[in-house]
Amino acid sequence: MCGILGYIGSQQATPLLLEGLRRLEYRGYDSVGISTMSDNGNLNVLKTAGRVDTLTDLIGNHLPISNMGIGHSRWATHGPATRDNAHPHVGGNCDLALVHNGVIENHDELRTRLESLGFYFKSGTDSEVIAHLIHWHITQRTKLQSNACGELQEQDEFRSRIQGVRRALKELRGSYALVIMFRDQPDYLLAVCNGSPLIIGTTDDGHLIGSDKHAISHSAHQFTRLEDQELAVIRSDSVQILQKTNPGLASREILWKEEDTHSLSFDDSCTYSHRTLQEIHEQPLTLKHMLSNIEDDFHSFPIEFLNNLPKRILILACGTSYHAGLFGKYIIEAISGIPVEVEYASEFRYRESPYQEGTLLLTISQSGETADTLGALREFKQRKQPTVAICNVPGSTLTEESDATIFLNVGLENGVAATKSYTADCAILSRLAMLWGYQKDVNVSRLSLLINDFHTIPQMISNVLDAKESIKNVAHTYEDAKRFLFIGRGFDYPTALEGALKLKELSYISAEGYAAGELKHGPLALVDDQTITVALATPGRTYEKVLSNLEEIRCRGGQILAIGVEDDQRLKRVANNVIYVQKVDEFLQPLVNIIPLQLFAFYLALARGCDVDRPRNLAKSVTVE
Ligand code: M6R
Repeated sequence: MCGILGYIGSQQATPLLLEGLRRLEYRGYDSVGISTMSDNGNLNVLKTAGRVDTLTDLIGNHLPISNMGIGHSRWATHGPATRDNAHPHVGGNCDLALVHNGVIENHDELRTRLESLGFYFKSGTDSEVIAHLIHWHITQRTKLQSNACGELQEQDEFRSRIQGVRRALKELRGSYALVIMFRDQPDYLLAVCNGSPLIIGTTDDGHLIGSDKHAISHSAHQFTRLEDQELAVIRSDSVQILQKTNPGLASREILWKEEDTHSLSFDDSCTYSHRTLQEIHEQPLTLKHMLSNIEDDFHSFPIEFLNNLPKRILILACGTSYHAGLFGKYIIEAISGIPVEVEYASEFRYRESPYQEGTLLLTISQSGETADTLGALREFKQRKQPTVAICNVPGSTLTEESDATIFLNVGLENGVAATKSYTADCAILSRLAMLWGYQKDVNVSRLSLLINDFHTIPQMISNVLDAKESIKNVAHTYEDAKRFLFIGRGFDYPTALEGALKLKELSYISAEGYAAGELKHGPLALVDDQTITVALATPGRTYEKVLSNLEEIRCRGGQILAIGVEDDQRLKRVANNVIYVQKVDEFLQPLVNIIPLQLFAFYLALARGCDVDRPRNLAKSVTVE
């Protein structure tokens, strides 16, 4: 989703901003823009619908010359992806330019008021409202001050500008990260945030600001995070963060941090036709890496938060991470007997969930920037109970705000569809289940068998990947399908949900995931010869039950594609197509079973001409509610 950049220093701003915008591309966006200071002291705004390459083409050989600038990649929330709606937006008569990430909930009423004050709007965005509002408040403050004291001294001017910005911010309801540049102030940028992150970085010759570390780590080497409601004044040789509790100009001390030790490698190279395909193929390696120290004392885990056996675990997450959490519930409860609740983060934050003593919160988020998950974490933290994040991105807001983090360490996941982060989440949750199983001294003999089986998973995944041509052929036979039902039971219920999510987000075909036992309670009405049921039917406690469900589908004319194990003659008889996987312990089978579903969704989407790495309407990092 939207990404923000700012630079002030002695280098040319434009190339740094363009490079930063490229680094933010993975989040998903539909328009881009930059603003720089021109020679004649005006703000120069260049923006366009489309990609960073479109902006680069627009700039051509006329690189704006400026030592300061702001940049933005926009994922449309208010108004379509047009040039006018792209950022930066200007306030007043091009007196200031700003970039915004977040959503302003009361933008309509503010716009009406500003229009009545004579402001003219060029865009349909909530962000342009902020630009005019800030301009208006600054003008009011400056007028007041100069009426009182005549010609304003530099410090008074600065003070009334800050007061004006603060007054404008007080009127905003919602979330924002803003970087602002003023036409008449070529010495500094202002940055402020509330519910949407901003990182400030020092470079050799100045400062960069970005929505995340990756956006600025091409040049910055020390980083600090702006806290909600703080205002930063960023000059080429200094950063001043004004205390949020103090209405004046008192600043707080800044703690600069070097790059995290868990640094996420930002390897931009793609050796496959698509990043999603590459990331699917990386899974044997990411899991092998994770399993290499499984017999150790879980040394990569924040043991101080996990050793104290929780009475109950609450898992909060969204999308694919939520599905991983659901798998976590099955395996943690089965192995350790600790009760686990899993909930969509977006639901948890706005309902009355009763306080329960001894709860450990596990949040799961690949990006660590998902607004719903962060909101739920903040809500939960008021209970003063421990919070542990499972996350892929070091230095992300989730990792900063949680008591401890277990890192996925799978490298950058670039494709919008989560793939390698899902299996890594499931593997970490399995390890947590084992850790608590050992601590409670339950199922110990089963545990050592499980660990043995765990080691076989990377090879089993490789074997599925080796069979990708046949999965591709199967996918092609369903190119014109209109509707899919994914069913699974027990440990594979989350796999069914995740398989359906992968198919719908990549191929745009309607796909629903169900617990197989639920079919007869409604979804069975959907079954006809146009409906394809994808069934997870590998051996396990509920295998027979799933097979009966498939018989019910078959006799109603439904088509069946099953994921099963080789030599399963019964499955062969009932299903129209079977994709084979190898058998592993039922508890771990979902880590293997999801791979053919990822490949199936990928190839089906490709056959339908979809943009698999960047599915329409979606973003990698969902930073708005
Ligand atoms: O970064 P997160 O794991 O918090 O993201 C949560 C979801 O937005 C994400 O998993 C989304 O559902 C994926 N596009 C699914 O492939």
